[in-house]
Amino acid sequence: MTRIAPSSVLVRVPAKINLQLSVGPKEDDGYHGIVTVFQSISLYDDVKVSLAEAGSGIRVDIAGDHTHGVPIDDSNLSTRAAFLMCERYDLPTDLKIEIVKSIPVAGGLAGGSADAAATILALDSLFELALSRDEMHAIGAPIGSDVPFMLNGGTAVGRGRGDQITAALSRGSYHWVLALSSIGLSTPAVYGECDRLRAGMQVAEPHVNDKVLQALLAADPVALGKTLVNDLQPASCSLRPALRLILDVGDEYGALGSIVSGSGPTVAFLVSDEDHGLDLAVALTSSGVVGSVTRVNGPVSGAKVTEIY
Ligand code: C5P
Repeated sequence: MTRIAPSSVLVRVPAKINLQLSVGPKEDDGYHGIVTVFQSISLYDDVKVSLAEAGSGIRVDIAGDHTHGVPIDDSNLSTRAAFLMCERYDLPTDLKIEIVKSIPVAGGLAGGSADAAATILALDSLFELALSRDEMHAIGAPIGSDVPFMLNGGTAVGRGRGDQITAALSRGSYHWVLALSSIGLSTPAVYGECDRLRAGMQVAEPHVNDKVLQALLAADPVALGKTLVNDLQPASCSLRPALRLILDVGDEYGALGSIVSGSGPTVAFLVSDEDHGLDLAVALTSSGVVGSVTRVNGPVSGAKVTEIY
């Protein structure tokens, strides 16, 4: 029997939050050495990559709840991932990438890196390349420091630029309420503001906080809530002062912990269960200081092929 090669692959990829984000001094290459603990959460983009007509090139189409501000030119991270994959593995460069976005752009949830990770996985499957995780990470890391984690998902410690991933043990499921903003923050601008705020200070090399890992191992959301820390948070709040008001609403309504995710502006509130999450979501919505609110849980697994046509 002849096997028919696939013409489209659909991948579902989750967003991430950082439970710890410790930022070291700026290095000579302009990046900062970081130590972070990632958790994937149940907020997903769906990325479909299909063979396209000869001569059409690589095109990207965006649909869904969070299309505003997503580039559709070659600066789109999934397009960049596709170009890199085509170049490295000599693939045909007529491809259509269709992204249904639920992960906000420039939100600190690694939405762009998620789409790049999904594209790498989709092309691996479409052209039956059978790449190893390490090969996919090597393609993805220069596109975005978060891409390797977005491929793996779950819970992991990230070192280097955040691109060197070690899986971490985590038990239980954690409930989060996310306060989303319709206007993103630029990651380089937030790192730049972090440098400005720390000018003249001695900045230590970052280390993993064992208390975060112990809380995850013990499935203890109360302990986890107390250990959440993000060194970029003062910078995000400095650039977007309204974030402080949002963090205050979480404290007022008994969130177990509140943290700006990555470079922001998304704020993540850890809650004890679904009912607590619903109460906090209602409070945040009626506070008038939040654009939109969504409830998620984590950890979930990383980018996954969901359909092959
Ligand atoms: O790797 P990614 O494209 O996500 O990084 C965007 C920008 O964020 C970088 O150009 C750099 O300015 C900053 N960054 C950093 N240190 C990191 C990760 C990102 O300074 N570890």
